[in-house]
Amino acid sequence: MSKKRVLSGIQPTHDSFHLGNYLGALKQWVQLQEDNDAFYCVVDLHALTIETDPKVLQKRILLSAAQLIAIGVDPSKCTLFIQSHVPAHNQLAWVLECITGFGEAGRMTQFKDKSQKGGADRTNVGLFTYPILQAADILLYQADFVPVGEDQRQHIELTRDLGQRFNSKYKEIFNIPQAQIIKSLAKINDLQEPTAKMSKSAASMSGVIELLDAPEITLKKFKSSVTDDGKEVKFDEKGKPGISNLLTIHSALSGKSIEAIENEFAGKGYGDFKSAVAEVVIAELEPIRDRTKQLMDDPAELVSLLSTGAKKANEVASNTLKEVYAALGLI
Ligand code: AMP
Ligand code: TRP
Repeated sequence: MSKKRVLSGIQPTHDSFHLGNYLGALKQWVQLQEDNDAFYCVVDLHALTIETDPKVLQKRILLSAAQLIAIGVDPSKCTLFIQSHVPAHNQLAWVLECITGFGEAGRMTQFKDKSQKGGADRTNVGLFTYPILQAADILLYQADFVPVGEDQRQHIELTRDLGQRFNSKYKEIFNIPQAQIIKSLAKINDLQEPTAKMSKSAASMSGVIELLDAPEITLKKFKSSVTDDGKEVKFDEKGKPGISNLLTIHSALSGKSIEAIENEFAGKGYGDFKSAVAEVVIAELEPIRDRTKQLMDDPAELVSLLSTGAKKANEVASNTLKEVYAALGLI
């Protein structure tokens, strides 16, 4: 049986990825490269929807690629590339924009959230068309599966709709992809605000665990995490959102079941439990941090790895685009 094509992308909007990205998406990337034909991209063009100092953006693109490799995304097993190195992404995005309804794009909840938060002045058209560029990222590679967090489900639905629409209007060119969402790891919440998703847009970083945080900082963030009334380590998302979130994190990294962890901490206080979660997290993140540093010390090598990926990606993407242009009647 031929390998399935997998594609995913992540934005280089911050210096460090966080635990939510890691558990909600990136760990799956590493697993999936083993048995699939995986394409992974750092979606730098999507990041332009947020105005960023060019020097800072450049560093973040490199840091993002370095962290992916440090996590275990292996350029010899998959195709790792930078979105802007493959011009077909923008070219297909335009074609798809022309078959997307205005209202359809306006219904994207991420756009509604972001534009509400940013206000009219900071809402650019790029933010509106963002999911259509994402659809192009996916359809160009004829992906079968798109591993993403739960919050991306709607964008993958739109991708499927646009792919099907193009296929029936013009020509059966696109493979229709499926979202692949790991339920148990789907949502990691903020340590200070455990009913809200862990996100870099949080008011304070004290509840956000960054992959590149020093171990002391990680420990401090867990120690000062918000917990709940009572003193029992029990999973109860409604009644005990803080403890439940910590249990989810521990379980995801240690591989132990929630129940086993509850039993392990029966009769012990929140303090012991928080330290134990921190320990599990630090053991996971320390090697990632070290490897990222090493890679950043040799940017020329990093860029060369990425250009190999870009070459492979361009071959696939330009073929799809050629077929699309022909099907549209472009000469
Ligand atoms: P972002 O950088 O927030 O756009 O997220 C990048 C990827 O990580 C997406 O696939 C998200 O769905 C996933 N992700 C982000 N935050 C979380 C979270 N708190 N829990 C689980 N997955 C997340
Ligand atoms: N919008 C995605 C996110 O915020 C990032 C992304 C861009 C993506 N292009 C993609 C994810 C293609 C999967 C496939 O996480």
